[in-house]
Amino acid sequence: MKILKQSFLIASLLMCVFLAKAQTTIIPHPQEVKFIQGVFQLSKDTKIISQKETREEANYLAEELKKGFGEKIKIKKKGKGISLILDKSLKQELGDEGYSLTVRQDEIKISAPTNTGIFYGIQSLRQLLPAEFEYQTNAAKSVEIPCTQVKDYPRFGWRAFMLDEARHFQGMETVKDLLDQMALLKMNVFHWHLTDDQGWRIEIKKYPKLTEIGGFRETTQITRNHPEDQNGIPHGGFYTQKEIKEIIDYANERHIRIVPEIEMPGHAMAAITAYPWLGVLGTSKEVPGEFGKLEDSFNVADPKVYKFLEDVLNEVFALFPGQVVHIGGDEVKFDAWKNSATMKELMKNEDLKSPADVQIYFTNRISNFIDQTGHRMMGWNEILGYNVHEWQEDSDFEVKQQLAKSAIIHFWKGDLELIKQAASSGYDVVNSTYWNTYLDYNYEAIPLSRAYNYDPIPNGLDKKYECKILGAGCQLWTEWVPNRKKLDQQVFPRLAAYAEVGWTNKDQKDWERFSQSLEELKARWTLEGIDFATEVEK
Ligand code: ACM
Repeated sequence: MKILKQSFLIASLLMCVFLAKAQTTIIPHPQEVKFIQGVFQLSKDTKIISQKETREEANYLAEELKKGFGEKIKIKKKGKGISLILDKSLKQELGDEGYSLTVRQDEIKISAPTNTGIFYGIQSLRQLLPAEFEYQTNAAKSVEIPCTQVKDYPRFGWRAFMLDEARHFQGMETVKDLLDQMALLKMNVFHWHLTDDQGWRIEIKKYPKLTEIGGFRETTQITRNHPEDQNGIPHGGFYTQKEIKEIIDYANERHIRIVPEIEMPGHAMAAITAYPWLGVLGTSKEVPGEFGKLEDSFNVADPKVYKFLEDVLNEVFALFPGQVVHIGGDEVKFDAWKNSATMKELMKNEDLKSPADVQIYFTNRISNFIDQTGHRMMGWNEILGYNVHEWQEDSDFEVKQQLAKSAIIHFWKGDLELIKQAASSGYDVVNSTYWNTYLDYNYEAIPLSRAYNYDPIPNGLDKKYECKILGAGCQLWTEWVPNRKKLDQQVFPRLAAYAEVGWTNKDQKDWERFSQSLEELKARWTLEGIDFATEVEK
């Protein structure tokens, strides 16, 4: 049977005619999908029917199909073919990102209330094509698409992937490849972790040393829990503002918004090495090659530091069109603050009870600034002022201050009760609990099935607060991800599972179906050169 199937495939490849797939799969699984008898014959003579307002999506589709046909198919205003129909009246039914896709023997229609919906309809259409279509070297004559009816919209509006570029710089090509995969999977937020202790990766014109000095280190730790074990190999890199704009445009074309992360007040050693006056200690001579929680943090008692952070954020806002900026806020080591005379004075003057109180005070000042510029702040859940770390003292967490309600809480650590508390206190929450969503964890800790079965709505959350959970993120921290192969292994195939977590309604999820559909995606990834992990259920 297998041999028969293979020779059939070879024969059809030789003729460059692709027959309809025996089983059709779309990841993330649509809310409603029905396969009907018959096929649509897509050929290079098929036309895309599009008005001016869907021209960008029409061009995108034409470029994707060109990969299979070797030439761009025509885009027309009238006629039959693949029609892209923007229809605002569908908003009630399909929301901001939904679409309907109908494949009949005589035509294909993608209707949606927004351009994003049209784009997602195109992604589902791409997944109805055989995986090989976009990757062959001979121009195809035609390809069969099974007649299908899809009505689809996401469960959550926030479906994020985070890439840490500080620990290991990845570069433009990898970022673009990841954005392509996110788009195919209808993920809509690229959370770009651009600064940390081990590297500053975004050009800031007003402070050139951030990248000149902060973008490069002499060595990198190579063994967990052994900071003394270093490879002695220089590592570095950064994005110029021009390159950042190129990535923003690339993401925009794929309906992905970018949330840049500029870490503060901790995880800031690269910046402090570049400009020592930013730190409480200011003693760092080199950008650290060691990982973990490092001693120094921004000196939040110094007005110059606020001026610096506002200048940096102003350049970030001028670059990124999105509303949300992530300010980190995680894992601040309080010792340096506790021993600082200027910090003690600040605490006295501002009636701050503890270092956690200082952090909330600082975060609120930054949040006020961000709000004033028409943006919105997001931060890891430490910004709420709870002690979620075993290595910190409870006495450091006496707080009087309250975090501004406009903040988006990025939940990663702590008791589940804390998420419920944050949501019921009125905060919007993105749920990225590390034990479910950290892509740097191995497959023993987070097997594919665990990633798939993750539910961002915590058990026991009162229904009326479910709307406060904006969605989920999955995160790739790159301490132990020095190259592309390792990156591919950590991200794929789990990215597909998280895409379905974010998109597909809970009662529509089905592990068996997902596992089968994944085979199709793996065929695509293989042709794409993505080195996905195969041992995923250890
Ligand atoms: C984190 O993993 N420190 C957010």
